[in-house]
Amino acid sequence: MQSQKIDQIKAEIAAANAKSAEELEAYRMRFISKKSVVAALFADMKSIPNEQKKEYGQQVNEVKQLAEEKFKQLIEAVNTSRQQKTGPLPDLTLPPTTWPIGGIHPLTATRQRIVEIFERIGFNLSEGPEIEDDWHNFTALNFPENHPAREMQDTFFIEKNPDIALRTHTSSVQVRVMENEKPPIRTLSPGRVFRNEAISARAHCIFHQVEGLYVDENVSFANLKQTLYHFAKEMFGKQTQVRFRPSFFPFTEPSAEIDISCQLCGGKGCNICKGTGWVEIGGSGMVDPNVLENCGIDSEKYTGFAFGMGIERIAMLKYQINDLRLFTENDIRFLQQFRGLL
Ligand code: PHE
Repeated sequence: MQSQKIDQIKAEIAAANAKSAEELEAYRMRFISKKSVVAALFADMKSIPNEQKKEYGQQVNEVKQLAEEKFKQLIEAVNTSRQQKTGPLPDLTLPPTTWPIGGIHPLTATRQRIVEIFERIGFNLSEGPEIEDDWHNFTALNFPENHPAREMQDTFFIEKNPDIALRTHTSSVQVRVMENEKPPIRTLSPGRVFRNEAISARAHCIFHQVEGLYVDENVSFANLKQTLYHFAKEMFGKQTQVRFRPSFFPFTEPSAEIDISCQLCGGKGCNICKGTGWVEIGGSGMVDPNVLENCGIDSEKYTGFAFGMGIERIAMLKYQINDLRLFTENDIRFLQQFRGLL
């Protein structure tokens, strides 16, 4: 009877198969574990008459060996089929791959630096909507209706409503601040602006500005100049020269363009400054009394200055970047160079 049982188990082992870890485990439970049929054969030893014990023992050991050998084969087979599906296991002793740490975008870093410089001299931050109405972007800023100055800014209008446009400058935010706050006002408005311009190395239809506004009693052009001198030296270094050139903006009178000495050649003349030694960084001027009145501020009592600069332009000068498009292309080779700026 025992030998029949042994033969049956042998046959079962020979026929056993496993295609997955679960099936392997089932095999192990049935033929290898302490509760296996093979273990049971060993337990039966006590009921075998003494003279048969030796032979019985040999047979059972043989079954045990068969079971173990088959188990090894089955493990091999399952591993090979897994590797065929998923490829070989990686070398688990290798150190882990580290993911590179990202960095602050150069435009963000430049904006932060500009904000920091002006915050230290008492400017607060203000923000406003990118979709603006005509009043805040133009009319309150003294752009007469149908005046060519509106075209100067190549506006994107919302098709069905000529009163709504993407803001062309962040001066619109300053109108909002003046409407809602009483002087003294010292505010800085950084933000994204939009103009219908063809994209090139020097121009883009979406770019960033930071505008500043100071309104109080007795604010003078001398204050404007001193503030921008301070900014230029903090931003670009002590050796930097600043120059004001007469200009025109509807919302300031007098108005001036701000130039700084070329960062590349130090003022000697090169192809960045087109041989002049100077590069423009923005516009500025004394707030036109009409603008103050439009925003409910008494222009007899208060005066103010305003300035506006392109953040891209400042970043290009500071880091000697020669193509505006690089800022939005997300080329990692470009961006990596600015890692650790802040
Ligand atoms: N808003 C002007 C522009 O977008 C810049 C500017 C701001 C000029 C404030 C003068 C005063 O070009």
